[in-house]
Amino acid sequence: MEVIIVKDYEEASQKACEIMLNVVKNNPTANLGLATGSTPIRLYELMREDHKKNGTSYKDIKSFNLDEYFGLDQSHPQSYHYFMCHNLFNELDIDMNNVHVPKGNGNIDEECKAYNQLLEDNPIDIQLLGIGSNGHIGFNEPGTPFDSVTHKVDLKQSTIEDNARLFFNGKIEDVPTQAVSMGIANIMKAKKVLLIASGEGKAKAIQATVEGPKTTDVPASALQDHPDCILVVDEAAASLLKNK
Ligand code: GLP
Repeated sequence: MEVIIVKDYEEASQKACEIMLNVVKNNPTANLGLATGSTPIRLYELMREDHKKNGTSYKDIKSFNLDEYFGLDQSHPQSYHYFMCHNLFNELDIDMNNVHVPKGNGNIDEECKAYNQLLEDNPIDIQLLGIGSNGHIGFNEPGTPFDSVTHKVDLKQSTIEDNARLFFNGKIEDVPTQAVSMGIANIMKAKKVLLIASGEGKAKAIQATVEGPKTTDVPASALQDHPDCILVVDEAAASLLKNK
């Protein structure tokens, strides 16, 4: 694990953008694993700005998102599909046929099987991750086995509360209690992993991820075994690290 500590959210987003663009520019047919949540919003804005200004093209790029809420249609403003379109895809030249977000409705077992097959057929070149305050990656909550693949999950109460704080207009009762998520084994198969963490609310999770034991209690600690994993962490999120 390589940990890059930067000053603040803006610097973390700039650094992450540099790493993402490097992959896209060196491989115009790259498969990008993408994430949602508040953390990558500025990174996506920077990618849109770069596309506009420098013409970096996504026309042969494929994208694969980590997760989706269960029970929300793609057109629901809080769905991750909607989030991705509005924060990134709508302003890039990406072919929407190359965009993949797990479906949160329909026959979930079939959807999960199909998504796993899709990931098998399209190995991810770079997987972007945020981290939950409880150490979750994607929607792989504490206790998820490291060999898990795309599956339906029950969200922890703390995740529902975290996500209501920033989305769903603060209404906890509107946050779905279940989701569909790539598993930890899917994430570990990516050639490169880029995790961004910002703010002191992530400090405990980052300390446990980097310096704690590898344990399913902290899903992100699985990344200790990844051969090419970069954590871009701002000073607040790095504040509990003992070895800086
Ligand atoms: C959600 C997403 C995760 C994300 C996490 C952190 O639970 N499923 O992929 O990493 O939120 O969100 P935020 O970046 O808003 O702190």
